[in-house]
Parts: sequence; C-alpha cells; structure tokens
Amino acid sequence: MSVRVAILLSGGGSNMVRLVESMTGDHPARPVLVMSNDPAAGGLARATALGVDTAAVDHRLFAGDRAAFEDVLHARLMQAEPDLICLAGFMRILTGDFTARWAGRMLNIHPSLLPKYRGLHTHARALEAGDTEAGCTVHEVTADLDDGPIRGQARVPVMPDDCAESLAARVLKAEHRLYPAVVRRFAGGDRTPLMLG
Ligand code: GAR
Repeated sequence: MSVRVAILLSGGGSNMVRLVESMTGDHPARPVLVMSNDPAAGGLARATALGVDTAAVDHRLFAGDRAAFEDVLHARLMQAEPDLICLAGFMRILTGDFTARWAGRMLNIHPSLLPKYRGLHTHARALEAGDTEAGCTVHEVTADLDDGPIRGQARVPVMPDDCAESLAARVLKAEHRLYPAVVRRFAGGDRTPLMLG
C-alpha cells in the first residue's frame, strides 16, 4: 500500500511539481491531493495538469479566525485520507492544534539552513549577514515556526555578486533536489537526515 501524500501550497508550486513527478515507479508514496489557501494559486492548475486532485480553502473568507480556517482545511484533507502532508510554499502559519493533529506526519521545506533565518526574507538576511553559504531545509512541522526535527538539508554557495533573487533561484534548484529525496526516504520509514552538499 502506497503512502498517501497531500501537498499544501500558496504559490506557483515548483516544489509540488517536483514532488508529484518523483512519486512514480517504486516510490513508496503517491500524491492524492494538492490544496491551497488561495484559489488562484498557480500550483493548483499545475497539479490538475499533472492529474492530481486539487482543492482550495480561501483563508480570507475566515476573517482572521485561524481555527475556523484550519477546521475546514483539516476536514477537506481528511476526505483524501493522507498519511503524509508536505507543505511546499504554504504561506500560512499553522496553529499548534493543527500541527498536533499531524504530528510526525507533516513536512515543510524552508529556504534557509535552519536554525538560521526562520520566517521570511531568508535570502536577504543571509546576504546581509555576509554568509558564504546558504541552502534549504526539510523538517517535520511542530507548533513552533520552522523549528521541527530536521530531515534534510542542501547547501549552496553564496556568490560575491548575488542579490536576493539570484540566491533564491540557486536555493530553489537545491530545494528541487532535496525535497523529493527526503520525501522518498521519509515515506519509506527512514527519518535519518539527508545532507546534500
Ligand atoms: C520555496 O522557496 C519554499 O522554500 C518557500 O516558498 C517557495 C515556494 O516555491 N517556502 C517558504 O518560504 C515557507 N516558509 P514554489 O511554490 O515554487 O515551490
């Protein structure tokens, strides 16, 4: 029996595409749902084109009531009966109640070498700090933002002429290598961190 994966996103979904494309053949998982908090998210159309079911729960309809939004999100997720949730550019902060429901069964990809630069503007912050190395992290999601157990990291160099955009593009390529590789291991029951150079 395959591990059933739901992917949550808010934007274009390039990580989602890499995840979906990876889940074929002897991969232990299969994508069952791609879901967004934004009905206009480009990733939803890309998922449909890949033949994956999609759904949207527009967070703006809940007027700041995070718990009510998450209840609907959770109910829709349950219809797909996922074993594993992958956040892939999902830009809503989740409450402790929601993360507890999926404890040990929810991964996130973050564009920094955690524990450095939790939250937003990771690339600008790395440049401002004069870092010579940047990267991305896949971690389990817990109640604290960008703080759960690390399941994989990929490192890239920072070039002397980098701006936030050029660094983001290099890190995104590393994300596309890292996330599918970590999900394959994780879905197969291996939680040892994967460290890519
Ligand atoms: C990725 O860089 C991902 O790491 C980041 O959003 C981007 C989504 O790109 N996620 C976060 O910043 C979460 N805090 P994508 O839609 O092309 O996959």
